[in-house]
Amino acid sequence: MKPQNLLFSLFLFFTVTTAQPTIQPGTTLSAANPGQTWSSPNNTFYVGFSQVGSSSSYTLTINYNGGVPIWTAGNATTTVDSKGSFQFLPSGNLRLLNGSGSVVWDSNTARLGVTTASLDDFGNLMLKNGTSTVWSSFDNPTDTIVPNQNFSVNQVLRSESYYFRFLSNGNLTLRWNDTILYWNQGLNSSLHVNLTSPTLGLQRTGVLTIFDVAFPIGSYTVASSNDYDEGGTRLRFLRLGKDGNFRMYSTAIGTGTITMVWSALTDQCEVFGYCGNMGICRYNESSSSPNCGCPSENFEPVDVNDSRRGCKRKVEIESCVGNATMLVLDNAKFLTYQPETLSQVFSNGISACRLNCLSQSSCIASTSLSDGTGMCYLKNSDFISGYQNPVLPSTSYVKVCGQAQPNPPPGLQIAEKSKSSSLRVWVVLVVVVITLLGLIAVEGGLWWWCCRNSPKFGSLSAQYALLEYASGAPVQLTDQDVDMQQVTRAIQVSFWCIQDQPSQRPKMGKVVQMLEGISEIENPPAPKAITEGSIPGTSILSSSNVSALSTFAPSAPTPSSSSSHQTLGVSPLASGRNIERASSSLLP
Ligand SMILES: *[C@@H]1O[C@H](CO)[C@@H](O)[C@H](O)[C@H]1NC(C)=O
Ligand SMILES: *[C@@H]1O[C@H](CO)[C@@H](O)[C@H](O)[C@H]1NC(C)=O
Ligand SMILES: *[C@@H]1O[C@H](CO)[C@@H](O)[C@H](O)[C@H]1NC(C)=O
Ligand SMILES: *[C@@H]1O[C@H](CO)[C@@H](O)[C@H](O)[C@H]1NC(C)=O
Ligand SMILES: *[C@@H]1O[C@H](CO)[C@@H](O)[C@H](O)[C@H]1NC(C)=O
Ligand SMILES: *[C@@H]1O[C@H](CO)[C@@H](O)[C@H](O)[C@H]1NC(C)=O
Ligand SMILES: *[C@@H]1O[C@H](CO)[C@@H](O)[C@H](O)[C@H]1NC(C)=O
Ligand SMILES: *[C@@H]1O[C@H](CO)[C@@H](O)[C@H](O)[C@H]1NC(C)=O
Ligand SMILES: *[C@@H]1O[C@H](CO)[C@@H](O)[C@H](O)[C@H]1NC(C)=O
Ligand SMILES: *[C@@H]1O[C@H](CO)[C@@H](O)[C@H](O)[C@H]1NC(C)=O
Ligand SMILES: *[C@@H]1O[C@H](CO)[C@@H](O)[C@H](O)[C@H]1NC(C)=O
Ligand SMILES: *[C@@H]1O[C@H](CO)[C@@H](O)[C@H](O)[C@H]1NC(C)=O
Repeated sequence: MKPQNLLFSLFLFFTVTTAQPTIQPGTTLSAANPGQTWSSPNNTFYVGFSQVGSSSSYTLTINYNGGVPIWTAGNATTTVDSKGSFQFLPSGNLRLLNGSGSVVWDSNTARLGVTTASLDDFGNLMLKNGTSTVWSSFDNPTDTIVPNQNFSVNQVLRSESYYFRFLSNGNLTLRWNDTILYWNQGLNSSLHVNLTSPTLGLQRTGVLTIFDVAFPIGSYTVASSNDYDEGGTRLRFLRLGKDGNFRMYSTAIGTGTITMVWSALTDQCEVFGYCGNMGICRYNESSSSPNCGCPSENFEPVDVNDSRRGCKRKVEIESCVGNATMLVLDNAKFLTYQPETLSQVFSNGISACRLNCLSQSSCIASTSLSDGTGMCYLKNSDFISGYQNPVLPSTSYVKVCGQAQPNPPPGLQIAEKSKSSSLRVWVVLVVVVITLLGLIAVEGGLWWWCCRNSPKFGSLSAQYALLEYASGAPVQLTDQDVDMQQVTRAIQVSFWCIQDQPSQRPKMGKVVQMLEGISEIENPPAPKAITEGSIPGTSILSSSNVSALSTFAPSAPTPSSSSSHQTLGVSPLASGRNIERASSSLLP
């Protein structure tokens, strides 16, 4: 036999063995050969090794065709090197071994009479003793639930420090460290039922359902994917993320790409511990995902390469007797979830909230709600999790050693980083304005040259030509006031379209709506690099914003000043107060 033929028959042999529905005892997968897999009968799912990022470690996973993992042997940190293997032993165990031959994970199913292993078309890996299933991946979930998997009250999903559990009363819960409960969703309170043996299941259409005989129709809908019923062939699945949020995703077979279609917490910063101990979760204008930072310059990150690992004090409180002060964090709270003892919750004023914590040696931080309740929460635990957002009606205090050193306002850092981008924005602005003016001149000239004698156009002015140009549509006008509004509109829209931040630029549909006057046009923010350079107390922002527009639209109404104007205005002001209060707190 020629070597090629031999290779070909070997290839055929592997194809045949890997595609067969049952896995025979003695079969092995090796990490060195990721193409080697155990597939489900119709190839919807497969068991195989996958590389962790670009590292030399591998995890053993069950995957949806295309590479979306739905189950992991052990957990995400259970990895082997490239000499690792996954074996179905004649004794009935599934075993993950690393290169040195040590057992990294075991199904612990020896001596249960297991005769076969198989992976079905729903993604369930099962060990059977001939008649019944003695072990299955669906009964031992890791961080994912797929359709046809019945999740019961004694099961748990785990991801890093986060736990998802389904309670016997029908509540769904998320906990940090299996103790602090930061999400607890119950049944509709108008429904009075005592459940008997509820199970949680995800339907193919993307509906998350609780099944129990106590429900009048046998089931209860908890949540639905936002692509419900769109393309019946998509796989929807639920996953507890490493960031502590619980989400539903949707994926098409063979693509390997996933789309989020539902999430338990809409505000990621409400996930306890997302930014680690002493970490502060914030949103910034340039991205919708939250950032983790430290409360002030009295702190430093635990790991400079991973801001989610939290912060530590540069000088510990213990080595600071009699010299501690309270750092003030405006619009900030320390997340407050059960279990919380009564001795940690008070109803007193803002300054008492600060002083109480300062005087108690066990207290490390406090949060005072300014929502009218006057509630004060003292934080005595070893682990606190912060959230700062201009919309939060609360002020928080953190004990630090010596003088409080607030973070510099975020704008200053950016302004330094983006001097070049400031120049670029100016160039773009000038080019756009010159081009616009040039086109207006050319259009006006053309009109004057060809139509000056035509009685039909005799009454039209250059405004109409500009409007025709700007809107791209023939002008049919009767009333001159409306015309100038449309010109203003077109120019305002053009300013939105040249925003530095892609996220701030409107979509094409929105542009059309704004041009047609269907949706309102807010005043566009002045370009970022320009506004942020102007933070220390000057008013370049507002004057440049208004003057840029008033050049073109003297009559443009400005009922609501632009949102970015407001938010930019908030942060320097807040941090200014911050400095003031922090220093006043140093006074005896
Ligand atoms: C294999 O696992 C053992 C025990 O967990 C560990 O000591 C060893 O370093 C691992 N070897 C490799 C090559 O990863
Ligand atoms: C594979 O089988 C499952 C379960 O019967 C079915 O839902 C799915 O549509 C099948 N997929 C293909 C590609 O035939
Ligand atoms: C398989 O396991 C079930 C339950 O553990 C047991 O009732 C049954 O007798 C076993 N069957 C065989 C063939 O061992
Ligand atoms: C889940 O529960 C349903 C209904 O009780 C049952 O038909 C189905 O076989 C179960 N699925 C698994 C994988 O056990
Ligand atoms: C992963 O599994 C190991 C034991 O195999 C365990 O020590 C570790 O705590 C687990 N980690 C997570 C995040 O579940
Ligand atoms: C995590 O939980 C364990 C008990 O479940 C507790 O002993 C430990 O202190 C907790 N960790 C933190 C940082 O709270
Ligand atoms: C179940 O969730 C509801 C909120 O939806 C909550 O009020 C109730 O206390 C929860 N029950 C338990 C036992 O956690
Ligand atoms: C609870 O059920 C009532 C009556 O079925 C319904 O009107 C209400 O919208 C439900 N509430 C929620 C939050 O789903
Ligand atoms: C549920 O159980 C409680 C106590 O066990 C009982 O008081 C209540 O009437 C029950 N509710 C229903 C709807 O059965
Ligand atoms: C951070 O990353 C850099 C480069 O990747 C590395 O040199 C440094 O040691 C890392 N620092 C920590 C604390 O891990
Ligand atoms: C208190 O802090 C100041 C500087 O902030 C330092 O000079 C002084 O030595 C400290 N006193 C004590 C008792 O630590
Ligand atoms: C804003 O968020 C982006 C992405 O998360 C980050 O790279 C950037 O440093 C953040 N800017 C500030 C001022 O924190």
